[in-house]
Amino acid sequence: MSIEIKKGLMGVTVDETSISKVMPEINSLTYRGYAAQDLCANCGFEEVAYLILNGNLPNKKQLIAFKKEERADRKLSKSLIKVLKQIPKKAHPMDVARTAVSVMGLEDKETFDNSPKANMRKTMRIFAKTPVALAAFYRLRKGKKIIEPKKNLSFAENFFHMCFGKVPNKDIVKAFDVSLILYAEHSFNVSTFTARTITSSLSDIHGAITGAIASLKGPLHGGANEEVMHMMKKIKKPENAEKWINKALDNKDVVMGFGHRVYKSGDSRVPTMREYFGKVAKIKKDKKFEKIYDILEKVMIDRKNIYPNVDYPTGPTYHLMGFDTDFFTPIFVISRITGWAAHIIEQHSTNKLIRPLAAYNGSKYRKVIEISKR
Ligand SMILES: CC(C)(COP(=O)(O)OP(=O)(O)OC[C@H]1O[C@@H](n2cnc3c(N)ncnc32)[C@H](O)[C@@H]1OP(=O)(O)O)[C@@H](O)C(=O)NCCC(=O)NCCS
Repeated sequence: MSIEIKKGLMGVTVDETSISKVMPEINSLTYRGYAAQDLCANCGFEEVAYLILNGNLPNKKQLIAFKKEERADRKLSKSLIKVLKQIPKKAHPMDVARTAVSVMGLEDKETFDNSPKANMRKTMRIFAKTPVALAAFYRLRKGKKIIEPKKNLSFAENFFHMCFGKVPNKDIVKAFDVSLILYAEHSFNVSTFTARTITSSLSDIHGAITGAIASLKGPLHGGANEEVMHMMKKIKKPENAEKWINKALDNKDVVMGFGHRVYKSGDSRVPTMREYFGKVAKIKKDKKFEKIYDILEKVMIDRKNIYPNVDYPTGPTYHLMGFDTDFFTPIFVISRITGWAAHIIEQHSTNKLIRPLAAYNGSKYRKVIEISKR
């Protein structure tokens, strides 16, 4: 009897979720029923983080309490700071993020408590401390002093403050906030599925998020925003763009920042992020990457009918904001912690061990021959 194999689990529905969905009727990614672009226009990132974690948008009082808790949880332990100081300066910041969350798991007083309330408290600690740890490493590897988090700054403002020692103008902060909202959640993508798989053995949230970070690092997933920037830097100037992309397609290369397993005719997050990329380019008075962006996009659609995904506009946006390229995927991490945590909590509440089958195509049965006769 032949077994049908769904490689990459393509098209396989493995569970239910109430957290997010790409709704075909509005052709958009939705979080708990709200279109992501609607949330970008009307809410700050902390409001959306609350929504993803709790199921509904907060009222004023709930939002104040949520922000207060996140700000109170930002401080890193002395031992985590010591670990960050010992990490090689050349380490990839995604590996630093993974290590930092793992160390937080060693230290957390509730690591072994998987109850919904403990998981929510641990989520807040991971959510608050991970950007602080990353920003600390951002400075340490440049030989600079760590900057303390500030309680009067929002999640996004505080990240700029700790990386650069200053908060940029409000339009740049808004563009960053929008990118965090757009990156926050995307159903059963590979890192979220990794987190749910780890959780399904009743393992803990620090372990599940550590595994999710490792999964997000790959260039076919979160790592694509960094690859987009490497590509744009290689292209150097708009005049080179058309020739470069045509050659890449002739060579059958995969062009980073294009294509998606779910969206086959355009990622609904792209128009919003493209708009904010344009705003940042205008503020920074640098149109070069926008021009390259438009040329590559046109050729990809004309020749392959393949559309950009959200990593395509976020890459050059983060570059213009001043972040080092290898910090782009870590920025994705600090946002996606919300989506991962919501899925981990959901998995715990309806858990079934994830254990698929494989069709064996190895050697037939054989007996061990003594080593001298092999
Ligand atoms: C995201 C991605 C892994 C989705 O993969 P998928 O659903 O398995 O789709 P496939 O890889 O099977 O692609 C289908 C076809 O489109 C082509 N294609 C898809 N994305 C492409 C890209 N970015 N550049 C060039 N061709 C691409 C494939 O080569 C394939 O062509 P073929 O049928 O002639 O072999 C894939 O589009 C990709 O590698 N993109 C670049 C990485 C990236 O930006 N990732 C971030 C995702 S949010």
